[in-house]
Amino acid sequence: MKIDFKTLRADFPLLKQTNRGKPLVYLDNSATNQKPRCVIDAISHYYTHDNANIHRGVYELSERATREYEKTRVTIKSFINAKHAHEIVFVRGATEGINLVAQSYGRTHFKVLDEIMISTMEHHSNIVPWQMLADQVGANLRIIPITDDGEIDMDAYQKLFTERTKMVAIAHASNALGTVNPIKEMIRIAHTHDVPVLVDGAQAFPHMPVDVQDLDCDFYVFSSHKAYGPTGIGVLYGKEKLLESMPPYQGGGDMIESVTFAKTTYNKVPFRFEAGTPDIAGVIGFGVALAYLKNIGMDNIAAHEQELLNYATQKLSAIPELKIIGVAKNKVGVISFVLKDVHPHDIGTVLDAHGIAIRAGHHCAMPVMERFQLPATVRASFGLYNNTADIDALVTGLQEVQRIFK
Ligand code: ALA
Repeated sequence: MKIDFKTLRADFPLLKQTNRGKPLVYLDNSATNQKPRCVIDAISHYYTHDNANIHRGVYELSERATREYEKTRVTIKSFINAKHAHEIVFVRGATEGINLVAQSYGRTHFKVLDEIMISTMEHHSNIVPWQMLADQVGANLRIIPITDDGEIDMDAYQKLFTERTKMVAIAHASNALGTVNPIKEMIRIAHTHDVPVLVDGAQAFPHMPVDVQDLDCDFYVFSSHKAYGPTGIGVLYGKEKLLESMPPYQGGGDMIESVTFAKTTYNKVPFRFEAGTPDIAGVIGFGVALAYLKNIGMDNIAAHEQELLNYATQKLSAIPELKIIGVAKNKVGVISFVLKDVHPHDIGTVLDAHGIAIRAGHHCAMPVMERFQLPATVRASFGLYNNTADIDALVTGLQEVQRIFK
């Protein structure tokens, strides 16, 4: 089915507004993206008609809320082709998913001098939880280097495995460079060493089809708010066998089977990992966002964003003294760049005055900045509602930056 992406923009009410008096050009989709009307309406509908606590009530309202909440689990299972719905754990976001695996799986299975492998291009959320775990159990981090183009150094990766390697944790796509990593091959290699792999899918899941069985990843995490759903909700996918081997991450209501002061026994997977009242409206809203994406088709979204990436790469490369940071062969719609002699924050400020929202800074990936010896970059990142006119506006804004700072 041919999708008319131009008409889809009308589904996003927020995009109709101005920014500093100019039509809003929203190019910060890697930070979070805007929500279609159907998601906003679903959350409002939930609070207007269905709000009750889940898994607890014996009344119709609670049964309805539970049914809608659990329906999203099944939607996600199909969306990422997991084998079982109980392999889907609801968390606050990709960050919490990684912390959960580090603190539950890692603290159970890792010991002194064990090694956890991550890469130079990780977001802080796929670095710091492993550093915290390493401090707790006496393990060490091993860092996979990246090339000048911003790609994983695959030879170095293979050489980093030792008999102490216990986990590889790797971004599917880099938020700072846009690089899409060859994770299927990386997982295959890790499995030849019997090492499980956690994939941080926060920056890939909203932009391409993801099939966890085809990838054969052991864990995959992603956030709803980067995939046109509400903030505060995300997913940890884990293979059944691994989740079964993991103790709870937090204690509280709903995660238990029975409680006495002498002994508590825990609920089954995935409820064991979902202590307390969850973000019920968020989960339901995310289910609606996924139905919206499915209707468009993730292949169509990927093709549209690749067209934008190609157009933007060509246009930005033609700007004198602009350097793109991260020129991997396989990228999502993310362009990081610097302009000679102008600080990224100044670029951000001038663009803001022209209605253009981009991110300027280290993008929560300080080791990437260190690798390229930069304090910061400017980053434009695309979503399904962006078009070439947005990129033209960015180019005009950058010409204005150069005029001001000449
Ligand atoms: N991780 C988000 C970003 O890359 C916040 O901007």
